[in-house]
Amino acid sequence: MHTTQRPAAPAGSPILEMARRAAEYRAAGHRVIDLTLGEPDFAPPAHVVAAAQRAATRPLGYTPANGIPELRRAVRQALERDRGLRRTDAEVTVGCGAKQVIFNALLATLRPGDEVIIPAPYWASYPDMVRLCGGTPVHVPCTAGSGFTLSPDALAAAMTDRTRWVVLNAPGNPSGATYSHDALTGLAGVLRQHPSVMILSDEIYAHIRFGAGEYVSIAQVAPDLSERILLVDGVSKAYAMTGWRVGWGIGPADLVQRITSVQSQNCTQTATVSQIAAVAALEGPQDFLTERCETYRRRRDAALAILKQSRHLDVQEPDGAFYLFPRLATDDDPAVADILLEAGCATVPGSAFGAPGHLRLSCATDIATLKEGCRIIVATLDGISAWSR
Ligand SMILES: Cc1ncc(COP(=O)(O)O)c(C=O)c1O
Repeated sequence: MHTTQRPAAPAGSPILEMARRAAEYRAAGHRVIDLTLGEPDFAPPAHVVAAAQRAATRPLGYTPANGIPELRRAVRQALERDRGLRRTDAEVTVGCGAKQVIFNALLATLRPGDEVIIPAPYWASYPDMVRLCGGTPVHVPCTAGSGFTLSPDALAAAMTDRTRWVVLNAPGNPSGATYSHDALTGLAGVLRQHPSVMILSDEIYAHIRFGAGEYVSIAQVAPDLSERILLVDGVSKAYAMTGWRVGWGIGPADLVQRITSVQSQNCTQTATVSQIAAVAALEGPQDFLTERCETYRRRRDAALAILKQSRHLDVQEPDGAFYLFPRLATDDDPAVADILLEAGCATVPGSAFGAPGHLRLSCATDIATLKEGCRIIVATLDGISAWSR
């Protein structure tokens, strides 16, 4: 078998690997608090489940590769409702989660050696996806001091004539970082000087924010760049529907068409019943989203209150998403994650996100479990005097 033509297969998601190890410990009879996965612990809204149940009793066949027209319309209308942006149905395509839309977009556009700028810390999947599609990930470290956001200067310095995409993810996984209108204006200024570079705006956590005011997307801040922006979102995080596998991309019609072509020869479409459920999620009541944010905020604050007691951790207050990303007193985060797992709390080492010396803790779990996990972390680290700050 010839395997050399493809880019090296990645080792697999380090997040899923830690979750697997946590499950293994549990299966061996240990009590383990699992703070690894970014998986909302809520049931989907009742009207969504009802819509799926009704749909499942009918024959459900294949749908167009870019999604059922009702879902593309619902996505477009939600974009107008939430961001004030108007798009056509031809500028929307649906896939099996935001992840597949991103992958399809990279596969459709990257030539060998093309570079993709990924601000670090980043969602662990971006670099592997870029590599699998033949591209080269270019990591740009963003420090806690800058709120883990990319500065215009850092972006300008990372640009080369091979740059094909710039990835922006806000609120960010794992840091929770968000960009203000001014910050995005600064980045747009740099992007205007590089007219062949595309912008991937991953807004999957847009509904999970703790600051005041509306979400700001680069698509709103720089409408003149709309022909180069692929805005990605989905039902996974906001509507607690990770397993339904529905995400979408909104971008220029020619790019959207290329993404759809990849989709059509890949898995044809995402499940029809899930698409119908996603329409119900987008068109149904939205007020529960604010309540969910409040729940995540309470969890974040409860976890922060415990973690801040440790002299071994430096932890920032995230603006959005449902993760905490404390800095450790050592750069050996994989070793710390191993020790914590043995002590009964599973976390993901920051190296997986391009930020060694950190840990990612998911707050997508009930508050009592989260607090117990944080107490284990603090007590365990306090027992290791060699790592004192
Ligand atoms: C930043 C980011 N983008 C995309 C995704 C994937 O979302 P989906 O479930 O829609 O594929 C995740 C999931 O963890 C994520 O954290």
